[in-house]
Amino acid sequence: MPMHESRFLRLAAERRSIRKYTSTPVERAKLDLCLEAARLAPSACNAQPYKFVVIDEPALKEKFCAAAFSGVYAACKFAASAPAMVAVVSSKGKMSAWLGNQVQDTNFRLMDIGIAAEHFVLAAAEQGLGTCWLGWFSAKGAAKALGLGAGKKVEVLLSVGYPAEAPAPRPRKKKEEFCSYNKL
Ligand SMILES: Cc1cc2nc3c(=O)[nH]c(=O)nc-3n(C[C@H](O)[C@H](O)[C@H](O)COP(=O)(O)O)c2cc1C
Repeated sequence: MPMHESRFLRLAAERRSIRKYTSTPVERAKLDLCLEAARLAPSACNAQPYKFVVIDEPALKEKFCAAAFSGVYAACKFAASAPAMVAVVSSKGKMSAWLGNQVQDTNFRLMDIGIAAEHFVLAAAEQGLGTCWLGWFSAKGAAKALGLGAGKKVEVLLSVGYPAEAPAPRPRKKKEEFCSYNKL
């Protein structure tokens, strides 16, 4: 297929991190579609070591954002303007996945979370929604606000809402810097 005919490439190229949102609430049907996209993601040993918690109740979302973006994490306060936040919570996967981690020295749990969360993000973009990945937040504050028990961790947040900005594409490595065939 010629590149210009790929709908997937167009979606991947048009997605942006959005840091300004309108106050329009996000329809649950749209969020459900994003969640379904994330649910279908592959994961090491099919462990699916995550749970996606959508916070769209305004008072709860405000409390959550206050806890997550306090102090040094205030740089990500912009995310509080999004009408919905998604907390991706890690859970203990299968023993085989754990063994893979130990033997391979690769954090499959985080890889799995990355894949599922990006499925969510692309499904959101397809529906005209903006998102931003957020790794810079208080994991302690977020866990407390969600009442998470021991062993559960909020690994990453996604802000979700209708874009109130249209940023230009951010730079990417040139093709020859990024990939090669048959040698590094
Ligand atoms: C794992 C991860 C963590 C990120 N954390 C943050 C963050 O804490 N704050 C933020 O503003 N953007 C964050 N971003 C967004 C990146 O800055 C953004 O994806 C990158 O600059 C490329 O821009 P683009 O998404 O518009 O293409 C994060 C992205 C990823 C994938």
